[in-house]
Formats: sequence, structure tokens, C-alpha cells
Amino acid sequence: MIFLENRPKGTYDLFNEEIKEFTKLEEHLKKVLNKYGFTEIRTPIFEHSSVFHRDSELSDMVTKETYNFQDKGNRLLTLRPEGTAGVIRAYVENKMYLKPLTKLYYIGPFFRYERPQKGRFRQFYQMGMEAIGEQSALLDAEIVSVSYEVIKSLGLKNVTINLNTLGKSSSQPQYKEILTNYFTPHIEELCGDCKRRITENPLRILDCKVDQQKEFVIEAPTPIDYLDQDDLAFYNEVKNNLRMMNVPFVENKRLVRGLDYYGQTVFEIVADIKGFGSQNVLGGGGHYENLVKELGGPDKSGIGVAFGLERLLEALRLEGIKLSEDDYLDAYIITFGEAEQTKALEVLTTLRNEDFKVSIDYYKRSFKAQLREALSLNAKYLIIIGDQELESNILTVKETKTEVQKEMTIDEFIRKAKENDYT
Ligand code: HAM
Repeated sequence: MIFLENRPKGTYDLFNEEIKEFTKLEEHLKKVLNKYGFTEIRTPIFEHSSVFHRDSELSDMVTKETYNFQDKGNRLLTLRPEGTAGVIRAYVENKMYLKPLTKLYYIGPFFRYERPQKGRFRQFYQMGMEAIGEQSALLDAEIVSVSYEVIKSLGLKNVTINLNTLGKSSSQPQYKEILTNYFTPHIEELCGDCKRRITENPLRILDCKVDQQKEFVIEAPTPIDYLDQDDLAFYNEVKNNLRMMNVPFVENKRLVRGLDYYGQTVFEIVADIKGFGSQNVLGGGGHYENLVKELGGPDKSGIGVAFGLERLLEALRLEGIKLSEDDYLDAYIITFGEAEQTKALEVLTTLRNEDFKVSIDYYKRSFKAQLREALSLNAKYLIIIGDQELESNILTVKETKTEVQKEMTIDEFIRKAKENDYT
């Protein structure tokens, strides 16, 4: 007996219409990123666990949601839950830091052991980009601006960019201590995760899905209240640049993001589209100051963003935007009997050599069945081959849209179809 196992929880199969839209979206994103000077990087889907499991990274994503395994050589490996750490590992390993600025993008699958729900999968696709070099308020603004361009170029309307700053990493311990002291008297009112976060990473309490509406969380001190002069000046410069670039954004003082490597600018792109559901963050990113150093590189910083492709596709669907064209055939060849099949194969080959998309009946079916298939495949022309056509070397052609039927040689058909001139 064959044992048939279904796909693993939180995964999906991609085919038919959906894969067409998916591929179109990938092509579209690549075009936008090329325009902004990013080049593609492909890193492994698994890395040494230490690339993600670093001492400074205590986010749920890394501590609770990674797929970790040991290979036959006893190496500890992790399926990548996000793209940035692997890209920085490659940046350092390949000494890309010898150039002042490196701009990379990636598209591929990522893996998180999360509770699956609408818009949240265990294997999902991201398109991400990283700009690594010196810290610059202009570069931070540009990454937010590319993210806006992604949204705008897709035609998505009901989307908001939320922006915040966390201040530089070196001033975060002081702010975290203030938060820990603030939340400690409320410990019993916090969810199980946040009880742990009070000491480990109190920032995360600010945007905890369970606790964020509680009054004492709303009133908690926010990072911006504790910025020093330099950080404030940097943040103001980022905002001014965005205004100059005509990038609309909303300041959200409680935005902290779900990873611990961020310092300074952070942002998220949120869908306000009816029917989207709770997983409405289309993309998110921010500035990281220490990741390059932590992964063995020099003192460089970076800024990046990643979009979830499934969520972008859902946004497109809900806003009625279609990227791929409907499938069509240039011609479908209809035959009446075995004798005509040889002729039909000859016509098929000639047309395919001329780059036409052509199909034929493979099962010797009735005229009616062939016609039905031709229409279901969206054939622009029907080429009919019967006794008469066999003898005369003339084809009977019918344009499906106008139902106009004509007789012509194959060369004539090729010319007319190519010039789109069926007069
Ligand atoms: P992230 O916010 O964890 O950031 O993920 C980015 C996007 O990936 C999310 O906004 C969401 O659209 C999508 N996403 C995340 N998890 C899932 C899931 N389980 N199912 C479906 N979609 C999901 C990062 O990953 C950072 N590496 C972004 C970044 C790049 N920061 C700096 N550079």
C-alpha cells in the first residue's frame, strides 16, 4: 500500500494561477531593486546555528521558532528564519566590506516554527534587501523609500509606513533598565512571555500582541523619550530626507520590531486593507549597528527590510490587482482523422519554430471536444485541417474573438498573426 502523507503543517503547494502571480511578483520586485542599484545574493537555506543563535539575539523568533538539527557530521545547523544574519555572514566571509557600500537583495524561502494562521506560515517567502557600509541618514531614508516604491509600483493603495527610532545600541541598556523598573510593579498583569521579557528584553513588551492595549503599557516610557542629542539629530535627518523624497510615513513611538539586532531607525509597512486579517504587516526592517561585528566583520552598520511575498500577494488579490496575464495559446490545431495528423504535426513544428505557442489534440477526439479544449486554453486562432486542407496545402483559420474564418497558406498565417492583422 502506498502511504500518502499530506504536506507539513504551515506549508503550502504552489501551482496554476498562484504560481504565475508569484513568479510575476518576483520579477516585478527584482526590477524595482535593480533600479535602486541592488544586486542579487543567494545564501544557503541553512547556516551554522551560531549565525542566528547569538548571545545578543533573544527574540522569540530565534529562541523559540527556529528549526534546528544536527547533520551526520554532528554540526549544529538551523534553517534560516530570516535573511539578514545569513547575508551578513556572507558579506563578512566574502570580504564585501572592502567596498564602501554594498547593496544586496534576496528572494527565497524562510522557516519559522510559528502557530500557522491566515498570512502566517512555517515556510514562507521573503524578498529582502540590505545596504551595508557606513551609517547614513540618507541611506536609512533610501531603504524606507525603496520600500515605498515597492508598494507604489505594485499599485497598492491602503498601506501605511510606520517609523520609529530605538536610539543607538549603546544607549539601549540604560533605556531598558528604565523600562524594567517601570514594568516590575506590573509583573502580575503581564502575559507569560512578557513576564520573562521584563528582564530579558523589556522593549518587546511595548508591541506585545497580548499586552499592548493595557493602560500601563500604553503609558510606558518610549525609546524616543530617552534619545541623546546625536540620536535625535540622526532621526530628524532621516525624517527630513523622507519628506524631501515624498515618502509618506507615520511616526509610531511604540514600534520596536521582533528582532534584537536593531538600533536607530526601525519601520514597518502595514496593510489597512479590508479583509486582510491580523497578520497585516507586509514588511519590516531597520538599522543594525553591531551585526557585522558580531559575525566577525569590521565596524560597519547596515539597514534593510524584508517583505513577506504571501502577504503582498494577498494584498494584491484583495485590491483587485493582477500582475500576470491570462494564459493563452496563439493557435490550436484541430484535425479530423489520422491522415491529417502528419500534416498537423508539420504545421505545429513550423509554428513552434516561429515562436508561436501552439497546441494540438493528443487523443484523437471529436471535433467538438477539440474545439472545447481550444477555447478552454484561450486559443487566439483555430487552425482546421481536414481532407481539403490536406490536398490544397491551404489552411482554414478561424479567429476565435471575431469568429471570422479564412483560408490561407501557413506563411500568410504567420505574417498575419505576427502583425496582429487578421484582415
Ligand atoms: P520580519 O519582520 O521578521 O523581519 O519579517 C519580514 C516580513 O516577513 C514580515 O513583515 C512578514 O510580511 C513576513 N513574515 C514573517 N514571518 C512570516 C510567517 N511566518 N509567515 C508569512 N510571512 C511572514 C525580518 O525578517 C528581517 N530580517 C527584516 C530585515 C532585513 N531587517 C533588516 N533587514
